[in-house]
Amino acid sequence: MATPLYSSTAADSAADPFSKAGRGFTLALNSLMSGVESRFGIKPGGLVERKLGRIMEAVPAAAVEAWVASMNTLAADHPEWQSLVECLTVHETYFYREPELMEMTRRDILPHLEQIRQSGRRLRLWSAACSSGEEAYDLAFLTLKYLQSRQKAMWSEFGVRLTDGWSMSVLGTDISNQVLRTARDGVYSNIAMGSIRDMPPEWKEMLESVPPTDPRADRSEAFYAVRPWVRSYVNFSRFNLMDSRPPCEDIDLAFCRNVLIYFEDSVKRQVQTMLARAIAPGGVLVLGSAVRLLATEYFSSQFGAGGSWYIRNDVKVTA
Ligand SMILES: C[S@@+](CC[C@H](N)C(=O)[O-])C[C@H]1O[C@@H](n2cnc3c(N)ncnc32)[C@H](O)[C@@H]1O
Repeated sequence: MATPLYSSTAADSAADPFSKAGRGFTLALNSLMSGVESRFGIKPGGLVERKLGRIMEAVPAAAVEAWVASMNTLAADHPEWQSLVECLTVHETYFYREPELMEMTRRDILPHLEQIRQSGRRLRLWSAACSSGEEAYDLAFLTLKYLQSRQKAMWSEFGVRLTDGWSMSVLGTDISNQVLRTARDGVYSNIAMGSIRDMPPEWKEMLESVPPTDPRADRSEAFYAVRPWVRSYVNFSRFNLMDSRPPCEDIDLAFCRNVLIYFEDSVKRQVQTMLARAIAPGGVLVLGSAVRLLATEYFSSQFGAGGSWYIRNDVKVTA
C-alpha cells in the first residue's frame, strides 16, 4: 500500500484522533482505500487518497470511524459505494484515441476477424470501461466502414447497412452510471479538449449536428449526436471489471484501454482472466499501450505498428 498522504502526529491524535490529521482519521482512510481496492480494483495512492480524504472531511469527525466501518460491510453494488466510486473514477476519453491503434484495428485485427468468422458472419465487440461511449461508437463505426470496404455493408439512405448475412453488435460497459448516461445519449460537444478534439474529418461522418438541450448553453459550443445508423449497433450496461463473470460471451474483439493502469498487477491479471472468459477462441483482446498482458496462458501476442494485440488461445479458463 502507498504511504498515506494523511499522516498523524502524537499531538494530533491526543487532541482529536478523528480530526483530519489524527491517527483515527488516517486509519479510517486506509481502511476505506482497502475497501475501494477490493471492490473496484482501483489501487490506493495519490489522487484516490486525496479524493477520499476530502470526502471523509465532509463527514462529522465523531462519525468517521462508524461511517467507514459501515461502508466496509456493504457490497460493491450498494448505492453508497456507487456514489463514492463516481467521484473516484477518471473518465477522460475521446473519439479516435490512439490513432495508430485505430489504424492497426482496421488494417490487421478486422481482417483477421473477418477471416475466422467467415462461416458465422457475426461480430460481437466489447468496449470494457467505455466511459462516456466514444470508444464503443468508434468500434461500431470502424467495423461498419471496414465491412463496407469489403462489400459486406453498403450505403442506404439511412447510412451504412450490413449485407451478405453479416451482423455486428457492440457492448459498452462501465462502473459509472454517470458516464453511461452520456454514452446512451450519444451527444458530444466541440469544447476544447472534449470528445471530438482529435477526430479526423472522415470520422465525423458518424455525427450529426443537434441543437443544445439546454437553451442557456454557451453559443460558441456546438453539439453533435452519433447518427442512428451507428447507434443502432451499440448498447450500454453497467459492469464492474472486478466481477469474475463477464457480462457477455463469445466476444470477437474486446477493448480494455486506459483503466487497468489504475490496478495492481494481481488485479490486472484477474481482470484479464475474466476477459479471457468472455472472448471466443480466435477472438482478440486490445489493452492499449500502457498495460502488458499478464494472463499469458490464454492469449498469443501479436505485434503491430499500433502496439500489441492478443489472440485468444483455444484453452479453457481454469482459474
Ligand atoms: C480513463 S477511462 C477510459 C475510457 C476508454 N476506455 C478510453 O480508453 O478512452 C476509464 C474508465 O474506467 C472506468 N472504471 C474504473 N474502474 C472500473 C471498474 N472496476 N469496472 C468498470 N469500469 C471501471 C471508469 O469509470 C472510467 O470511465
